[in-house]
Parts: sequence; structure tokens; C-alpha cells
Amino acid sequence: MIVKVKTNTNIALVKYWGKKNSKLKTPLNNSISMTLDKLFTITSAEVIDSKKDEVFFNNIQKEDDKSKKIVDFIDIFRNNFDKKDKKIRIITENNFPTASGLASSASGFSALSVAVANVLNLNLTDKELSIYSRLGSGSACRSIFGGFVEWNKGEVEDGSDSYATQIKDENYWDLNMIVCIVDDIKKDKSSTDGMKETVETCPFYPAWLETIEKDLQEVRNGILEKDLEKVGQTMEHNCLKMHSTMFTTKPSIIYWKPKTLEIIHKVRELRNEGLNCYFTIDAGANVKILCQKNDSNKIMNFIDNILPKDKIIVCSAGSGYNFI
Ligand code: PMV
Repeated sequence: MIVKVKTNTNIALVKYWGKKNSKLKTPLNNSISMTLDKLFTITSAEVIDSKKDEVFFNNIQKEDDKSKKIVDFIDIFRNNFDKKDKKIRIITENNFPTASGLASSASGFSALSVAVANVLNLNLTDKELSIYSRLGSGSACRSIFGGFVEWNKGEVEDGSDSYATQIKDENYWDLNMIVCIVDDIKKDKSSTDGMKETVETCPFYPAWLETIEKDLQEVRNGILEKDLEKVGQTMEHNCLKMHSTMFTTKPSIIYWKPKTLEIIHKVRELRNEGLNCYFTIDAGANVKILCQKNDSNKIMNFIDNILPKDKIIVCSAGSGYNFI
């Protein structure tokens, strides 16, 4: 039996930045995201008669650090569910560049956990799938669900209450997230290393944690009220706070490129002219712009002057995982 799964990536409106437990990947704060419909991973899993797992990225078999991460991840399932003798072939591909601040690990590990859990017939609930996805990459726990999603950081030490739930589904609100690919080469600092260094050395990190509850409340309310201005203003401020902690980490972390800043200024300019649009940036140089669907063509035309057309992807809210 081959299980084939598609999961979408997600972009945080209120970011996760900092781990409580690095092995369990439990976060120091809750986060809220929007799952996107056009950036996804497709992963298939099959139990094979072999002494070891086989991992293929884009149809090429790999035995490197990345494939080892996948094998280690499958081990978690094998150990927890007494399936030690089961070896698995994984074939996975993204439809977008890996490790470029486009949250490839979010769709990657959520697809992998759904595929592995199902090929091993584990009958896991969505909550359990969210928890297992989190063990691969924190933000992956949010990609189990479509639409608007909150990851509750949880309180207990074993991480069993640290998982995502859906706030509203993908059909709820006519928004676009315009993904502007400023840079699609692999970033030189992973988010795991970046957030660890920030927690350890940034003098402003406590302020990040002190102000997060207010951001979460605003964005939750903004979603429930369909108030784009409330969601957007808070999202933008939250992003700038996260990047400020990165800038003031020792040594400093600066993911932005000149075009990142150019797009930030353009978004602010468009807003001054009356367009309701807001930016956010993850651990990379790429910018995502949140706006009403009706406004996205107008915004695209302006970004067109900064980036080539094929570097701009207009996304809507996407679904949770699907078997294909
Ligand atoms: O889960 P990771 O290791 O991909 O970290 C994600 C970190 C950010 O993208 C910057 C924020 C977020 O909440 O997605």
C-alpha cells in the first residue's frame, strides 16, 4: 500500500520564536497562522522489504543529513508504536524552494507525519498528528489544519498539550497572502539555531514574551471580526518585533535583503494611499503581503516593478492535509 499525502505550508500572523524544550520542540509562546493553498509538499510512504528506509527528494535517492532527519523522525513512530521491523520508502517533493523562509519544513513534516502514521495504520487523531508533526518542525503542527490556526504552546513537560487547533476554516475569509520571493537560496542560519541564539543572547527577548499575549488576542479577535486592519497591523508589528530580537542577538541575525526593505516601503506607501495591505517576514528574506482578494491585482502591479512576475505567488487560505 502506498499512502500519498499533500499538505500546505502556513505563514504565521503571530510568530513562534523560541523553544522551551528543543528536543520536544515545544515553544515559549503561542502562535497563529494562515495555511496557504499554493505552496505545498507531496509525500508518499510505502512499507518496504528492506533493512533500511529509503528517502527520495524530487525522485532522487538521498543519504545525507536531510534524509537522516527523516529516518530519525520515522524512528519516533516505530519506537512509540512497536513497529521496529517496518522499513519505509519515502518520496517527497515541494513545489517551492526549500529552506528559503517559505516554511518548507512546515509542509514537509506535516506531510511526512500523516504519510507515516497512515502507512503504519496508526489511526491517529488530528490532534495527535499535530503533535507528531511538531516533533519534526514546530510550525508543522499548524499545517495539519486549513484556514486560520492557533498553536497552543501547552504547559506540561512532555509536550502532550502542545498542538494546533483550527480557528476558522479556509472558506471563511476572502484574503490573499501574496508571497514575494526575494531570495530562493538556502538561508545560512536555520530557524532552530536562530531562535536558540535569540533566546540566549537578545536583551529584548523578555519583551517579546511579555507582549505576545496582546498580539494573540488582537489577531484572534481580528479573525473573528473579519477585521483586516486589526489582523494586519498586529501581524506587521509582531513581525518587526521578532526581527528586532534577531537584529539584537549576538552575533546579530539579519535575514533581510535590500529587496525585502524595498517591498516593506512599498507596502507602507500603498497603505498611505488607502490600500489595506500588510507585510510579514519569516526567518528569511521573502516578504508576504496580506490583503483583500479584490486588492491583490493592484498590489501585484506595484510589486511587479520590484520583482519578476514568476517570483510573486498569490495565495489564498488553503486546506489541511489531503490524501491524493
Ligand atoms: O518551525 P520552524 O523551525 O520552521 O520555525 C518557524 C519560525 C518562523 O517561521 C520564523 C515563525 C513561525 O511561527 O512560523
